[in-house]
Amino acid sequence: MSFNSKIKTIEWAENKSRMIDQRILPKEFKLVDINTLDGMYTAIKDMIVRGAPAIGIAGAHGIALGAIEISKTETNKENFLKKLEQKAQYLKSSRPTAVNLMWAVDKQIKLANETQGNIEDIVNALIQNGIKLENEDIEINKKMGDYGAEVVPKGAAILTHCNAGALATVGYGTALGVIRSAFAKDPTIKVYADETRPRQQGARLTTWELTQDGIPVTLITDGMCSYFMSKGMINMVVVGADRIAANGDTANKIGTYTVAISAKYHNVPFYIAAPLSTIDISIKSGKEIPIEERNHEEVTHINGDWICTKDVNIINPGFDVTPNELITGIITEKGILKPPFTDSIKNAFKKD
Ligand code: MRU
Repeated sequence: MSFNSKIKTIEWAENKSRMIDQRILPKEFKLVDINTLDGMYTAIKDMIVRGAPAIGIAGAHGIALGAIEISKTETNKENFLKKLEQKAQYLKSSRPTAVNLMWAVDKQIKLANETQGNIEDIVNALIQNGIKLENEDIEINKKMGDYGAEVVPKGAAILTHCNAGALATVGYGTALGVIRSAFAKDPTIKVYADETRPRQQGARLTTWELTQDGIPVTLITDGMCSYFMSKGMINMVVVGADRIAANGDTANKIGTYTVAISAKYHNVPFYIAAPLSTIDISIKSGKEIPIEERNHEEVTHINGDWICTKDVNIINPGFDVTPNELITGIITEKGILKPPFTDSIKNAFKKD
């Protein structure tokens, strides 16, 4: 049985949010239960749960947990909604780049305000909506997988960066979903996974996840991609996204931009796989995407040990923005969006 059919990365269970602890994979596989909104803030910030769509579901669960907590002491509906809104702002500040978090939290707050009935009805509606979003996430990923598999050349060697897999979603994955669907049709395809410094999501998570499913994967370090492209050993790149602007500029894990430049130079098609919930049509270009600055220890330490001189300056942006002109297509649940992205993105939202 594959990893995907066994377990959800995050799911509502026994009135709590249950998730895989991604900080300790692949050494240890452990599930943790989060039962407060503050606990969810920490789970997102510390990256127990990570990856844009999974963070979105964590946001939806977080609001349901916040509603349960507030309902224990607040009986006035108006005050309850005000307190929930305050908590929502706090939860959204846990990580700034992945727009799926804001998308899911805002959806929950809208639902809370629109639900008729008493506080208990609102709490139940928020829980049920969190579960609905979980199930939809998997369906959306499978649709993306079907569309994406159509553009994977026979026997392709596919490069991916970071982890945009089952672990970054509820299940199946976005970029790795495309790879899974392509592999189901053509078992001769193979994957090159970038290590993805500094947190090594490629090395720790992508290689683990693909190996579980029997998909051939070779781990390379981030600086190797141009070398392998120059040798003609990579036929396609597919990565995920944390936020896509209305013009197609795409924020994804730091290092993605370098891969995209190299792909352009070597004429290798470069695809983004992301659900429409990752597209932020309220911003015109990637210049408006907030980039998270992370803890400097991620750069100065490996496995708790210093790897550099202690007084060196550090800068650690978690994401970069790939300009739209480097992107061949954006694989979504509504099909593959092509340049000019301003038009294709607008049309994809019209169909809703
Ligand atoms: O910092 P992370 O691990 O949350 O970053 C994850 C990524 O950059 C993924 O590529 C992105 O969220 C897409 S996940 C389907």
